[in-house]
Amino acid sequence: MATIETEATSVTPKGRLTIRRHGLVTRLTHWGWAAALFFLLLSGLQIFNAHPALYIGQQSGFAFDNSVLSIQPIRHQNGEVRGMTTVLGRSFDTTGVLGVSGSQEQRAFRAFPAWLTVPSYHDLATGRVVHFFFAWVFAAAYCLWLVASLLNGHLRREIIPGWADVRALPRTIVEHLRFRFDHDGRYNSLQKLSYAAVLLVFFPVMILTGLTMSPGMDAAWPWLLDLFGGRQTARTIHFVVMLLLVGFFIVHIFMVFAAGPINEMRSMITGRYRVDRRHEEGKAP
Ligand code: HEM
Repeated sequence: MATIETEATSVTPKGRLTIRRHGLVTRLTHWGWAAALFFLLLSGLQIFNAHPALYIGQQSGFAFDNSVLSIQPIRHQNGEVRGMTTVLGRSFDTTGVLGVSGSQEQRAFRAFPAWLTVPSYHDLATGRVVHFFFAWVFAAAYCLWLVASLLNGHLRREIIPGWADVRALPRTIVEHLRFRFDHDGRYNSLQKLSYAAVLLVFFPVMILTGLTMSPGMDAAWPWLLDLFGGRQTARTIHFVVMLLLVGFFIVHIFMVFAAGPINEMRSMITGRYRVDRRHEEGKAP
């Protein structure tokens, strides 16, 4: 075996080489924000249900025509109530999930269904308490990750993509399409780009647009309103980033399972990651 055993590497009883892939702060903050985002999503949808429409600009209300999304129960001429979702002026019948949900006997006229909100029943006050609590947990985990990653070099080494990552991108995409993954202990270029987008764009924008919706923060930091074009636009951006994070999450979980869930999960729980034999033997670049 070409690799020398050091503090950062060790050999399993079966003779496989493992390396130290994730530091303690990376692991703790990852699970902290993953748990916080779960509750933020479900309580956020409860808050959205209180006024199920999004706007661009300063004005808001069903009487204005600056709405970009609305989810409403609409009564048709035959008396039937259907759930209608309107995105940028185009309407879709989303009965059963959005606008109108529940069983035939117990119809619920709400934007997001009971199974997607916390609490499951209509309760804006509790939704806000849950949302603001986990917003601080999330912001604290993110700030801790940012400071530690700046200090220990994680951000520079593993997250910020370099030219080599951009050049390697087409090859990495082809390898992913063939379900071939390299276990060499480093993030591949697709991982770096997606993690950089999540950690350096989505998370800060999520926190800042959240703060922009707070009247107290607007008084303290009026530049937030200029930055995001007003509270209604900030609310729309907040929602769009939520959708992007849900999309990231689905692909992220799929990739964890495709790349080898035991090894991947062990690395995010204990920090230790088993590398491929060819990397052990020093054959890979
Ligand atoms: C919305 C929730 C989640 C977000 C936003 C998220 C985001 C991220 C990010 C940004 C990283 C890189 C962290 C760093 O290097 O500093 C990461 C790594 C990782 N995540 Fe998540 N994650 C989420 C949920 C989950 C869940 C539920 C699982 C487990 C099923 C998971 C498993 C992993 C694993 C195994 C890694 C390490 C990947 C590797 O070493 O190649 N994540 N995640």
